[in-house]
Amino acid sequence: MSEKILTKRLENPGYGGTIEEHLATGGYQAIAKALKEHTPASLIELVRRSGLRGRGGAGFPTGVKWGFVPKDPGLTKYLVCNADESEPGTFKDLDLIMRDPHQLLEGILLASYAIGCQTAYIYIRGEFIAGATILERAIKDAATHGFLGKDILGSGFSVEIHPHRGAGAYICGEETALLESLEGKRGLPRLKPPFPATAGLYRLPTVVNNVETLCNLPHIVLRGPEWFSSIGTPKSTGTRIFSVSGHVRRPGNYELPIDVPMRELIFEHAGGMRDGRRLKAVIPGGSSVPVLTEQYLDTRMDFESLAKAGSMAGSGGVIVMDESTCMVRTGEVVARFYHHESCGQCTQCREGTAWLHKTLRRIEEGRGRKADLDLLLDICENMKGKTICPLSDAAAMPIESYLKYFGDEFEQHIVERACPFASTDGS
Ligand SMILES: Cc1cc2nc3c(=O)[nH]c(=O)nc-3n(C[C@H](O)[C@H](O)[C@H](O)COP(=O)(O)O)c2cc1C
Ligand code: SF4
Repeated sequence: MSEKILTKRLENPGYGGTIEEHLATGGYQAIAKALKEHTPASLIELVRRSGLRGRGGAGFPTGVKWGFVPKDPGLTKYLVCNADESEPGTFKDLDLIMRDPHQLLEGILLASYAIGCQTAYIYIRGEFIAGATILERAIKDAATHGFLGKDILGSGFSVEIHPHRGAGAYICGEETALLESLEGKRGLPRLKPPFPATAGLYRLPTVVNNVETLCNLPHIVLRGPEWFSSIGTPKSTGTRIFSVSGHVRRPGNYELPIDVPMRELIFEHAGGMRDGRRLKAVIPGGSSVPVLTEQYLDTRMDFESLAKAGSMAGSGGVIVMDESTCMVRTGEVVARFYHHESCGQCTQCREGTAWLHKTLRRIEEGRGRKADLDLLLDICENMKGKTICPLSDAAAMPIESYLKYFGDEFEQHIVERACPFASTDGS
């Protein structure tokens, strides 16, 4: 069994996440150490050396991102914790918030100190009402104990943290749409550049980091960048919390070295396939990434290995499907989601997601035509690399992969004029 980092405290079933329990298990020691031993610049360098990469989806190196923030002390800077957790198949950030909120707050303090921010926000998904309440309570307790507010631990460093609830739009997980929403506007992604590090919230320098990314920081500060980078591969370091769902015996969150083989994750940790059925397909990084098949089971889950296999590590949401699953129906459900969530600014995305959904629905309902397969590929091609944000690509790439691996199944729907899985529970 490998060592847990982010979920170590949670191995104790009695751990309730209060500030007293957190302090008794080493909580807030990292910020005390950082304030004493590090300048903001040396803290950025420490995180860069750890190799930590963002856990929100794109896997961008955290220390490098922080390094883009202008150093001018007269300029207001913001840190925004992305707790929108909107990617289907992903459910680890809420767990981290609900069960160990102070770990996240300490991560936010460290990131704020590093970039010179005095006001940090936690943008939390609207539906996570209990999570927001827990955060509010934790923020009050941290302030009472002197870890938040003015002159923290007598260091001269001051920061406030404000939780902000979203309103349930998937697109508000995309960092620039999130910033628009935080400013009180409609959550429409912005054209980049400029990137948030130079022009983010209120057009001021802003770092947006995912919950899990930030939770790693106290451990990196306390145990050192070399320890952190000794886990995983040279380019993908540390552990990752994989949210495993679908047709497995034990769905749930599993914190494992980031390069764990897919087979070990599914068959050892998540208990293997339920009802003795055979594995058919795995979406390894949330609904936005291309699907993989049984032949990729020995692929490791780190960023590079999954990219080499033709997919992506994405948000760490691992959706496992067995042989009873209809891949046309899966495509229809995924396309419906992206059609619903497209913000509509870009024609390729607004129209493309609608056409994908419409075409997949008619194939699934037995009204498909042979030409629909080429039509789907053509729509996908026209949706990629041309839009303001990556949602359009995220809608197209999975559908292309379903056609690549399960094209026969799509043809069967068209030839037989019905879904061959209609009599199973593969819906
Ligand atoms: C459509 C879309 C939805 C996204 N949703 C989330 C999300 O729910 N949570 C998240 O942390 N990142 C999400 N991201 C990624 C963010 O834009 C951003 O890259 C991330 O929050 C940066 O944090 P990190 O560097 O710590 O990963 C999404 C991106 C896109 C394009
Ligand atoms: S790609 Fe889609 S979601 Fe992104 S900005 Fe364009 S229309 Fe909106």
